[in-house]
Amino acid sequence: MEYVILNNGVEMPTEGFGVFTIEDLDICEQAVLDALKSGYRLIDTASAYMNEEAVGAAIRKSGVPREELFITTKLWVQDAGYETAKQAFETSLEKLGLDYIDLYLIHQPFNDYYGSWRAMEELHKEGKIRAIGLSNFDNPQLVDLIMNSKVVPSVLQIEMHPFFQQQDAIDIMNTYDIQPQAWAPLAKTTEEVLNNNILSGIAEAHQKTVPQIMLRWHIQRGVSVIPKSTHRNRMEENIDIWDFELTEDEMKQIKTLDQGKSLYIDRQTVETTEMFNNWKIHD
Ligand SMILES: NC(=O)c1ccc[n+]([C@@H]2O[C@H](COP(=O)([O-])OP(=O)(O)OC[C@H]3O[C@@H](n4cnc5c(N)ncnc54)[C@H](OP(=O)(O)O)[C@@H]3O)[C@@H](O)[C@H]2O)c1
Repeated sequence: MEYVILNNGVEMPTEGFGVFTIEDLDICEQAVLDALKSGYRLIDTASAYMNEEAVGAAIRKSGVPREELFITTKLWVQDAGYETAKQAFETSLEKLGLDYIDLYLIHQPFNDYYGSWRAMEELHKEGKIRAIGLSNFDNPQLVDLIMNSKVVPSVLQIEMHPFFQQQDAIDIMNTYDIQPQAWAPLAKTTEEVLNNNILSGIAEAHQKTVPQIMLRWHIQRGVSVIPKSTHRNRMEENIDIWDFELTEDEMKQIKTLDQGKSLYIDRQTVETTEMFNNWKIHD
């Protein structure tokens, strides 16, 4: 496993394991246990995934020392704001059974996220969070937050895969020394993705699989990845990406796959804003 050094000096594993959509708590606990056995040390959850308890239970059962782990969780839209963010952070700590979080992210750029950021800056200063960051912020939102805050985010987690490459976002992150992290790094492995001609040709040339090629491509662009799977063999496959390199020509071929827009969501609509604000995770 390789590590990246974040802009505040904290080391983060370059590859982690994501648990979005694993809402059944027993399945989630088993998946995280299997991921830890397979060698993952970064686990990416969120209060909105409704599975922080299961992640905590797996951590305790695994016997992996806490200092070897890197746990990410996220603040939901409903809890945005200075006081509410502090309360939500304590709830996440309690559910995870931890006394600090390695990376705490603002999940979505809606509601009072400036108030949230103030709270997170304080929790970071108190040592309760090792690094703070954002998710799903676009470039103008990111730069405005930086220009009106004390702490520059350490990580920005956004949708990124060969079909939505987000080079402009990576360029801004590089300018401000923010680590890019890809959600849906495998573009959710639909049939269309797995059968893509360019990706399968490159996979064949390296005796690797299409998911391994996509993950390797992210790593060679300097992007951290958090693939999700509930299958042990796929977890092992997804972490077996450190013994080969894509050539410059292969990187160029993958560049041609960019469609320049999300495969899943249009963030610029009123419906999306309403949907995120209406999405409640507690009373
Ligand atoms: N910040 C955000 O707003 C946000 C949004 C979405 C996701 N995320 C984070 O990013 C993580 C990853 O994103 P994601 O789960 O949406 O998508 P993903 O990792 O791109 O794809 C996951 C899908 O790929 C399948 N898969 C995994 N490895 C495979 C392999 N080697 N071969 C074939 N199929 C494979 C999984 O199926 P099985 O499970 O059946 O193996 C699952 O259906 C999430 O779990 C979450 O932690 C964050």
